[in-house]
Amino acid sequence: VAIIMDGNGRWAEGRGLPRSAGHGAGARAVRRVVRAAPALGIGTLTLYAFSSDNWRRPAAEVATLMELFERYLVTERETCRRHGIRINVIGRRDRFAPQLLRSIRDAERATAAGRRLHLRLAVDYSSRHAITVAAGSLPRRRRCSFAEFSQRLNRAVHSAPAAPDVDLLIRTSGERRLSDFLLWECAYAEFVFTRRPWPAFGRRDLVRALEEFRSRERRFGRLSRAV
Ligand code: FPP
Repeated sequence: VAIIMDGNGRWAEGRGLPRSAGHGAGARAVRRVVRAAPALGIGTLTLYAFSSDNWRRPAAEVATLMELFERYLVTERETCRRHGIRINVIGRRDRFAPQLLRSIRDAERATAAGRRLHLRLAVDYSSRHAITVAAGSLPRRRRCSFAEFSQRLNRAVHSAPAAPDVDLLIRTSGERRLSDFLLWECAYAEFVFTRRPWPAFGRRDLVRALEEFRSRERRFGRLSRAV
């Protein structure tokens, strides 16, 4: 399952609160959803926390988000370790402050044995950048299979362990676009869009999205089972 967590700003503005309050509430929604995911049969959960294009936001908002990521990694590390949740941050690693980089490595190391859920937080993530890096790593004059390319793509975003393709992509807050998220991995994903803003999203919304997913017929190019 992959989620584009959208609508923090609108949720806050609708309540007369600063956007930073929306991001804070968004972080609480992350905790709720991560807690619910393993029991719902989700093996890999990838959350779009900060796209490479989000650097274009005002410096103060970027700083707030980076602080939230770091706080999350520091405060959740031990809980995740105890609950078998393996944390992994995917995306670029060359533009983070040293302290955040250390917290990422500490969280990844501390939770590496987790097998109940692979939680991937996409931070400074751009799918097109990742695909370009993976393509640049290809050996010359040799054909490469989809499987090998997927492996190189996972390596390009520092995903350890490698993650499978996305089955279900959820985007909150009414928008219906992919915004440079997991373009290759979503080749056969089912999309569920909800109007619910991310800070208001919870276990019940996740269950509803999974039910919607289970009601879909996935054909992967074959004929319908009903034919
Ligand atoms: C989109 O809402 C959300 C983001 C750009 C940031 C996502 C961050 C969080 C959910 C908080 C912390 C995350 C972790 C992993 C601890 P928006 O700001 O674009 O909302 P808007 O479209 O309504 O303005």
